[in-house]
Amino acid sequence: MTERSCSVTIDGIAVTVPAGASVVAAIVTAGTLRTRTSMTGQCRFALCGMGRCQECRVTVDGQPHVLACRTACRDGMQIQTGTLA
Ligand code: FES
Repeated sequence: MTERSCSVTIDGIAVTVPAGASVVAAIVTAGTLRTRTSMTGQCRFALCGMGRCQECRVTVDGQPHVLACRTACRDGMQIQTGTLA
């Protein structure tokens, strides 16, 4: 990590992103195009990018239903995708 970057973990995959990057940007960097799993079992991903659609909900440091598009990465953050939501 540098002042201009931070390291986070996406489903156990460590990635480094620019400081201030959104969680959804880190998810893309990890090569994952999934945020949550719908109640019918479909993989979902960020759609609106502005906090409206709720499709980008992930679990961050154990807290469920965090909007990945509206949350900036912090160093050491652990992000889980694919949660049933
Ligand atoms: S992408 Fe729509 S709320 Fe996050």
